[in-house]
Amino acid sequence: MSVTFQRITLARRPSGAPVPEDFKLQSDPMPEPKDGEVLIAVTHLSLDPYMRGRMDDVKSYAPSVGIGETMTGQGVGHVLTSNADGFATGDLVTGMTGWASHACLPGKDLRKLDTDLPPSTALGVLGMPGLTGWVGLNRFGKPKAGETLVVAAATGPVGSMVGQLAKAAGLRTVAIAGGPEKCALATDTFGFDAAIDHRAHDTASDLRKAIAEAAPDGVDIYWENVGGKVLEAVLPLMNTHGRIPVCGMIAWYGGVDGDGTDRLPQMWRAVLVKRLQVTGFIIFDHWNDYPAFLNEVSPQVAEGKIAYLEDVAEGLDNMVPAFIAMLKGGNTGKQIVAL
Ligand SMILES: NC(=O)c1ccc[n+]([C@@H]2O[C@H](COP(=O)([O-])OP(=O)(O)OC[C@H]3O[C@@H](n4cnc5c(N)ncnc54)[C@H](OP(=O)(O)O)[C@@H]3O)[C@@H](O)[C@H]2O)c1
Repeated sequence: MSVTFQRITLARRPSGAPVPEDFKLQSDPMPEPKDGEVLIAVTHLSLDPYMRGRMDDVKSYAPSVGIGETMTGQGVGHVLTSNADGFATGDLVTGMTGWASHACLPGKDLRKLDTDLPPSTALGVLGMPGLTGWVGLNRFGKPKAGETLVVAAATGPVGSMVGQLAKAAGLRTVAIAGGPEKCALATDTFGFDAAIDHRAHDTASDLRKAIAEAAPDGVDIYWENVGGKVLEAVLPLMNTHGRIPVCGMIAWYGGVDGDGTDRLPQMWRAVLVKRLQVTGFIIFDHWNDYPAFLNEVSPQVAEGKIAYLEDVAEGLDNMVPAFIAMLKGGNTGKQIVAL
């Protein structure tokens, strides 16, 4: 067995969008599993937008990554050595490995994977992002047949789950995505009724016109993934008693600059006059729903009734470039790094 392992640590806190110098790829002695722990050789790592938030030293729903600490994240891998009951060498497991080639984790924090689907699906369509779409839509979106849903980042793992579930529930589904290729994927692969390229509309009011055409009966559910121009475009189009599950606001993860900062407070009025239900949620509060989600959704994924896309970068060397690109829309589908 190799005597060292590789990991990526936080070298400094980014200002705005992260740059390569904010990270450090380093080699360290291979950790040894203590009693109750398992040593894992990681095969797939997840890249998720929330990781940008962990790089800032601000109070949030989860602690930030310290300078010099391994970047946080979920991985999938094989057990190399087990000192934990219930785990044996060769088992396929998933847990919070961090951005690393190997990890020692307590057995109680790991989940065994026994699936015929590719193991990487545990990080995307059948993992945290898929669960986020399923819980958030059912619980906070409260979809009803005949209504209209709008979602941005529509070809990502959250948006594509939301769109497909809403379509299956009989809603008209409108995707917002970056670029013509992603718009084509939204309609052809994920079954959205219409797709709008947010990059082709410079202003919120232009984008609003395009969304209004695609949603002639107004918007009943706006699934908030991005904030920024898209939020500003959609808010005035909301129908009375509409719902906005607030899942993410990636347009602002590097900080808010200019567009929308002065106009959004005025638009907040829409929440009052349209009697909107705006509900922020964090998936960590809903892990108890995971078994029910898997029961319902994994057979549909296995049968091809729910489609998913993965964008796989190769090697830990490509982790940082893939992360930086993802935050700007460079990924097409769930961003995975295969080791
Ligand atoms: N609340 C929770 O517990 C929870 C859990 C999971 C995820 N989330 C949030 O859900 C959202 C989607 O996550 P995901 O994992 O499915 O990500 P994702 O779609 O794979 O990746 C992010 C996408 O955001 C879009 N984007 C980036 N900057 C944008 C901008 N300025 N305006 C419009 N779109 C922009 C890009 O898609 P386009 O190129 O198509 O624009 C990019 O591909 C994120 O905000 C994430 O933080 C929240």
